[in-house]
Amino acid sequence: MIIDLLRQEHRNIEKLLLVLEEELMVFDRGERPNYEVVLAVIAYFQVYPDAYHHPQEDMVFEKLKARDPAAAAKIGDLTAEHRKGAKRLSQVAQAVENGLMDQGVSRHTVDGIIRDFIVHERHHMAMEEREFFPAAVEALQPQDWAEIASSRLTGQKDPLFSEIVEKRFDAVRRHILRLEQEAEAERAHF
Ligand SMILES: [Fe+2]
Ligand SMILES: [Fe+2]
Repeated sequence: MIIDLLRQEHRNIEKLLLVLEEELMVFDRGERPNYEVVLAVIAYFQVYPDAYHHPQEDMVFEKLKARDPAAAAKIGDLTAEHRKGAKRLSQVAQAVENGLMDQGVSRHTVDGIIRDFIVHERHHMAMEEREFFPAAVEALQPQDWAEIASSRLTGQKDPLFSEIVEKRFDAVRRHILRLEQEAEAERAHF
């Protein structure tokens, strides 16, 4: 079911937020974080949620608006929240890039921007799980879910293609988690 997939994606996103948080702690200690890991997490966030996760949630939200406008109004403007999240992410990318190049941004500023992104992402997902998903499960009808599922496929042209892409992202996530383990093992050595 689509909601189960969305919840699963939240768990995947949380794993990567934890990785980012871990590297941020290293940075805050005044040490050099593993930038390969940090940049990989940012790249993942730049592609995956915007290409897959958010468009699906937006579709579910459109259906919810039609079926239960009051419930949708309580949740607010989900699409705008996704846009704000993308903006925060681009600030993170910018801050990390400037930090890497030592372009005079203070560590405090970099820390604040990344922390802000992590906090908002978690807050957003928690809200969706607490309010949005249950409201959608309650209000949407079987044909709504069928329509979302089919536009999911036609939107990506070819179901096989989307399966390949999913596997690819799976591999990317595993790669990032492995890099992070290596980085941590290395740090434990010193
Ligand atoms: Fe969302
Ligand atoms: Fe979400």
